[in-house]
Amino acid sequence: MKTNIVLIGMTGSGKSTIGEKLSQQLGMPFKDIDLFIEHTTKQSIPELFEVSEAHFRAIETKACKKIAATENHTVISCGGGVVLNPENIQALRKTGWIVFIDRPIEHIIKDIEIGHRPLLKEGKGKLYQFHEQRLNLYQSFADFRVDNQSGLEDVLNTIKNNLP
Ligand code: S3P
Repeated sequence: MKTNIVLIGMTGSGKSTIGEKLSQQLGMPFKDIDLFIEHTTKQSIPELFEVSEAHFRAIETKACKKIAATENHTVISCGGGVVLNPENIQALRKTGWIVFIDRPIEHIIKDIEIGHRPLLKEGKGKLYQFHEQRLNLYQSFADFRVDNQSGLEDVLNTIKNNLP
């Protein structure tokens, strides 16, 4: 049964903020896949990337499968690269409704902090490349797309008004 709400979208699109608020408003638990990975491996995302991106991606796939199989009635926020492996989405969509948080790339670039994001070490410019590579994937994997341009409350209401 599809009882989870799964948020996908670019890094900096607002998945975690929206996910946390949505879970509070709907009285559902919240699960962030990156945080789950950090708890279970006891390593930070940058540390896992230091081994290699492939190492992180393999752990990410295991986490998606585990969370999809064990969580229900949960709001799940995914890392931006979750769409790179279709296995991840196949697993998550068995138990979840997939929502694409679509935020204009210019807004993301303006606001994002490179801080802990290993893929942005070379600068924010990389985000244009990721956006180009991933936009079609987000669109094609999503059951529902919401524009994140007009403020948090609007996004939350749009999602709540369109729940399956
Ligand atoms: C990634 C996004 C990050 C994190 C990892 C890889 C990506 O998550 O999973 O650094 O490939 O875009 P956020 O989307 O939460 O920043």
